[in-house]
Amino acid sequence: MHEEVSSLRSEFISRALATQNHDELEALRIEFLGRNGRFTALLKSLKDIEPDKRRQMGELLNQTKKILEETLATQEKETTQKEEKKFDDTIPGIQPPIGHLHLVTQAIDEISRVFMDIGFVRRRYPEIETDFYAFEGLNMPSTHAARDEWETFFVEPNFLLTPHTSNGQVREMERGALPIRMINISKTYRRQSDISHVPMFHQFEGLVVDQNIHITHLKGTLDYFAKNFFGESRKTRLRPYNFRFTEPSFEIDITCGVCNGTGKLPSGNSCKLCKAGWLELGGAGMVHPNVLKAGKIDPTKYSGFAFGWGVERTYMMKSGIQIPDIRMLYSTDLRFLRQF
Ligand code: DAH
Repeated sequence: MHEEVSSLRSEFISRALATQNHDELEALRIEFLGRNGRFTALLKSLKDIEPDKRRQMGELLNQTKKILEETLATQEKETTQKEEKKFDDTIPGIQPPIGHLHLVTQAIDEISRVFMDIGFVRRRYPEIETDFYAFEGLNMPSTHAARDEWETFFVEPNFLLTPHTSNGQVREMERGALPIRMINISKTYRRQSDISHVPMFHQFEGLVVDQNIHITHLKGTLDYFAKNFFGESRKTRLRPYNFRFTEPSFEIDITCGVCNGTGKLPSGNSCKLCKAGWLELGGAGMVHPNVLKAGKIDPTKYSGFAFGWGVERTYMMKSGIQIPDIRMLYSTDLRFLRQF
């Protein structure tokens, strides 16, 4: 009987330790210590034992019973603690809202990548600028009427919010590291606000200065950009224009993606998006000798080309996204922003 008691005890202890919750433990208690339990049966059989061994056996059974009860009590505590702590990995998690880059940031990344692939280096120049870099150094003396085209915010008499990224041209030249192949993308500011203008918008400005730079380099770069940013079939054209900081100056047009540069739709109607097959991208030209001089570069040895376009406009032309009011881009309305 000794052996039976000790094997029952070890079975009980090992099974008790393996229980995970109160119910399992209770089932075990009933199996061993219940009215018809296996240990209870041993206690009941005590009376059949020879009287001289009964006392010793009784003591053993009592001690064992105490051990079983203590085991139950400790295990009960263990399992309730475990249950409280339990992590239920079947409950669906709470998904934190994940945002995405703003449309304009996506546009800046894409535009930069196209130019960086052909050796342009990304630059950033101040948004709060002096009159010299925004105008004077770009061949626009203080009395010149052309300044009026940039509806400028003045901060202090000699400081302004840069109205175009062309302010980076002379700054880049002044670094004195030739040749130059920079792409300056930054915020720009103008005093205008309506459905197609925001007071703060973005421009990207390309500037290349080296020996023997010609219009063909400008045209080649623009065609490369048009194909790689807008698509293989797109072409550009240069239209004569006038900017003070370039000579000659151009406006750059690109073939319309909707009518494929024809100005006509398959239905025979004329295309509503463009003017006779062309869309206007932005300005460009060969850097004016006075601008090179302002940047301490000798115009008899070096020449260059430059271009400057609006990021928002360029991106909308690519994606075909039509925004009824461009100011929505800078609103905080997530219903609008989440679409892109
Ligand atoms: N800065 C001009 C604007 O904001 C755009 C521009 C025209 C930039 C000709 C250039 C350029 O670099 O060569 O309207």
